[in-house]
Amino acid sequence: MRIGLAADNGAWHKARLLAALTDLGAAPVLFSLAEVTVETGHDEPLRVPGFGGGLPDGVLLRTIAGGTFEATTMRLGALHALVAAGTVVWNGPTAIERSVDKAMTSLLLARRRIPTPETFVLSRRDAAAEVVAREAAPGRPLVLKPLFGSQGEGLQLIVRPEELPPEELVGRVYYLQRYVARRDAAWQDYRIFVCAGRAVAGMIREGDGWITNVHRGGRPLPWRPPARAAALAEEAAAAVGCGYTGVDLVEDGEGGFLVLEVNSMPAWSGLQQVTPVDIAREVAAGFLAAVRAGHPPRLVAAGGPP
Ligand SMILES: Nc1ncnc2c1ncn2[C@@H]1O[C@H](COP(=O)(O)OP(=O)(O)O)[C@@H](O)[C@H]1O
Ligand SMILES: [Mg+2]
Repeated sequence: MRIGLAADNGAWHKARLLAALTDLGAAPVLFSLAEVTVETGHDEPLRVPGFGGGLPDGVLLRTIAGGTFEATTMRLGALHALVAAGTVVWNGPTAIERSVDKAMTSLLLARRRIPTPETFVLSRRDAAAEVVAREAAPGRPLVLKPLFGSQGEGLQLIVRPEELPPEELVGRVYYLQRYVARRDAAWQDYRIFVCAGRAVAGMIREGDGWITNVHRGGRPLPWRPPARAAALAEEAAAAVGCGYTGVDLVEDGEGGFLVLEVNSMPAWSGLQQVTPVDIAREVAAGFLAAVRAGHPPRLVAAGGPP
């Protein structure tokens, strides 16, 4: 099998995935999506470095580096073209588009009746202001999140319509979500890692405030997810279509959980500190199994004397 590993940044994760893939018998070719080109003078116009004129059977995608709208569109287009040509891409471009766009994630979760905090997405500030006036109050804020946000950056609690930033500062999309209060004034919520449809590891994240991302100083603590949380994370992964994903959950205060986010390019260095499960190996094994299923080995006729 011709296997590619596309990891534009993150040396630790890249090294772990390379080692795991190699350990499992694959000979991965490391490349960057920024090096993929289109050249129409060939039989196959998509040129992936390291694969000659052909295409890989599988691409394990760890990250798409941030870039201009043009660069991102081209890279997603290249991934769609790979999928169309029969390459197994993990995570695939559709899953990435769905999870990077928090509005689409919320829509998909809601359609599947997967519990998630009530969410409102609006393009116009006056429409967003109406929602805030109607839904928020002192002690009952809404969370304003950047539509493409990650690592807990740019989140803001909104109580009054006047607090809404102007349209230019939110990319002309207001993503507003009901704030879920934590129990016992402890700033804890949860991350579950799902791989090939199965919850394989989890952790508590404890912050110094309501945003608990490890990037923002959140501390990982060991946690064995209860069955209902694991099932919820697995449903959320399926709703978005991720082969592997980190799902953020928060307690609903009534003994259940709500899904906050489904990450299609999850980091797991924090989680790896508190779980005995080798996450890179889980990802590599799940991915290789998917590639094999997508490209079953050609059966050689048994032949021989009757
Ligand atoms: N609706 C909410 N209620 C309470 N806390 C929230 C809510 N949404 C997000 N948070 C906190 O902020 C963190 C970051 O939000 P998240 O939606 O996961 O975006 P990001 O892509 O930045 O990680 C969450 O892990 C959680 O700690
Ligand atoms: Mg998150």
